[in-house]
Amino acid sequence: MKLYAPFTRPLRLAIFLPMAILKIARMGHPVLKARAAEVEDPTAPEVRALVADMLETLADIDGAGLAAPQVHVPRRVVIFRVPAERVTEREDDSPLGLTALINPVIEPLSNEIERGWEGCLSVPGMMGEVPRHAEVRYSGFDLDGRPIQRSAVGFHARVVQHECDHLDGLLYPMRMEDLTRFGFETEMRRLIRDEAAAAAEAREAAELERETPAVA
Ligand code: NI
Repeated sequence: MKLYAPFTRPLRLAIFLPMAILKIARMGHPVLKARAAEVEDPTAPEVRALVADMLETLADIDGAGLAAPQVHVPRRVVIFRVPAERVTEREDDSPLGLTALINPVIEPLSNEIERGWEGCLSVPGMMGEVPRHAEVRYSGFDLDGRPIQRSAVGFHARVVQHECDHLDGLLYPMRMEDLTRFGFETEMRRLIRDEAAAAAEAREAAELERETPAVA
């Protein structure tokens, strides 16, 4: 078993050689704990080959994002997308096709923290509620070496923070404040459902109370 496979392979020409679905490192593996190294040349063919394999791997598992350390490559490369169904009602939020970001840097744009549910391909079968910055600005480079700079809210902000954490050896459970809201996906989905039902019931009760005339 060889680590960091894509960087030890000979240079590949994407046209002639097939892409590959990569093996995902799971929580506990050393590659997920280390700080990933900067990419010296974002336009290098091996970076393009790595991103192509990451895209194929992500498509295969239908995820929203993936970081290079998750496929055993300790380099500062992430890919992510914002599916239409995850876009919030904010006017500054919109869907985003797959983006590859090299050497990303994130800065929060406000002190606002949002809690939201996350899963991770390296923590399979689990879900947790994670506090994240509600608004961020991020920058980095694309595969042609062009700078990327965007601001993000909602799921967009969350997925970028989640993926970039992987580059610093952080998995989402390490960001959690309340581990009672971490568990198996089926159990957490039940919790979310039950809480939504309880909240709806409370809203209904409050409404009923408002409509009932006060009796002196
Ligand atoms: Ni992850």
